[in-house]
Amino acid sequence: MLRTDEEKEYAFEYAKKIADRFDAEKYLNAPRPYPTTLAQKMYGYAMPRQYTMLKNAPYVVIPVFKCKELNGEYVSKLNPFSTIWCVIENIFLAATAEGLGCSMRIPLNEEHDIVKAKLKVPPTYMIPVFIGIGYADPHEAVLEQNAADLDKQLHYGRWK
Ligand SMILES: Cc1cc2nc3c(=O)[nH]c(=O)nc-3n(C[C@H](O)[C@H](O)[C@H](O)COP(=O)(O)O)c2cc1C
Repeated sequence: MLRTDEEKEYAFEYAKKIADRFDAEKYLNAPRPYPTTLAQKMYGYAMPRQYTMLKNAPYVVIPVFKCKELNGEYVSKLNPFSTIWCVIENIFLAATAEGLGCSMRIPLNEEHDIVKAKLKVPPTYMIPVFIGIGYADPHEAVLEQNAADLDKQLHYGRWK
């Protein structure tokens, strides 16, 4: 758990660099063979905020799971990975039930290793996500969301 500005600034130096460099205009206007999706619009909005959403959150939870490297060869190896994502979902649900909001940032390899070293996490653990927790800004923009089309997305018995 990170609470102070110093702790968050130290841990998320790399995230700040990435967020500062992200050019949302360029990303959203890049030529694509299909119209920009809602997920891409969300991504373009979210990426420049990836540092401040952690820095401005009063609490940042950093869950860890036992793992030297991702490996789904045996149940015993995959178990910590699948379990931690259930734990993460439970944290989101519990925070929401308390009227709080959550943000998440999933570090890629380089950032993962940097943060792990900075926080002195033992080598046998991995960090799946950084979770910011606090009261959501009621004035924050809400981007258009995908509506699930269950008739198309649910398959009974077999795919078709
Ligand atoms: C590791 C990882 C982290 C992601 N982080 C975010 C995020 O912080 N915000 C977001 O809106 N989407 C996030 N996404 C989902 C993207 O929005 C999604 O991949 C989107 O379609 C991006 O489109 P693109 O891959 O064509 O750029 C993430 C996806 C992955 C795999």
